[in-house]
Amino acid sequence: MRAAVIGGTGFYSPGLLDEERDLTVATPYGEVALKEGSYHGKELVFLARHGVDHAFPPHLVNYRANIWALKAVGVQTVLATAATGSLNEDMRPGEIVLVDQFLDFTKSRPQTFYEGGEAGVLHVDMTEPYCPEVRRHLIAVAQQLERRVHPKGTYVCTEGPRYETPAEIQMYRQLGGDVVGMTSVPEVVLAREAGLCYATLALVTNYAAGISKNPLSHREVLEEMARSQEVLRKLIFSALVTLPEERNCACARAAAELGSLGQKSMQQGD
Ligand code: HPA
Repeated sequence: MRAAVIGGTGFYSPGLLDEERDLTVATPYGEVALKEGSYHGKELVFLARHGVDHAFPPHLVNYRANIWALKAVGVQTVLATAATGSLNEDMRPGEIVLVDQFLDFTKSRPQTFYEGGEAGVLHVDMTEPYCPEVRRHLIAVAQQLERRVHPKGTYVCTEGPRYETPAEIQMYRQLGGDVVGMTSVPEVVLAREAGLCYATLALVTNYAAGISKNPLSHREVLEEMARSQEVLRKLIFSALVTLPEERNCACARAAAELGSLGQKSMQQGD
């Protein structure tokens, strides 16, 4: 079973991989640069979501190319990191939230591989957008950490790249949001369409606008990511080496309703 780590803001290199190699994968949406290697005998792939120099802002990340490329190199499970602001005073900077739901406030991003014609149309189920099996595993592994890890939470995805206004944050809070970031959608949706198991480790890097006493800055986010890098890596790698080979969730069958035509179109990149 091949797994991938998608590194978000402040998480630009895999670290710890043996025999690390660069790999470029061509997809119908453009080329994707990956790193591959192994960790304790497990084959792993790493993708820097924003590019290595944070070259792509959240609304311009080529999400479809990224997920297509992971699928094409045989990945089945993805752990993604995400820097987030907290809307919930109980979720403090430095803590990790294993989010289980999202609220989508993005505006301009293609969210599907299935745009009609040859590919067909797919209305993919999002009852459990983040793989429940992988989340359960992460929750169990997190018990060994000395860092507080919240077993669930609702991720509000904004369009960015600007931060939010305090009025927006107030609204998201009223709607039930716990953390806010700019990248989980459409990544999680496309991963499901591709039949991948996908989970997000949301690191709280700051209190959101209006809750924080100070104006927000990218530097503050990077500083908290740097402080928590090691614990995040520990959770990711411990989870990946102990992840069961067999998948018993429904993620792989998410596109089944579409029938063979759609499956075929996704597999052209294999
Ligand atoms: N808002 C949106 N995205 C973020 C934040 C935030 O406060 N912190 C880190 N990513």
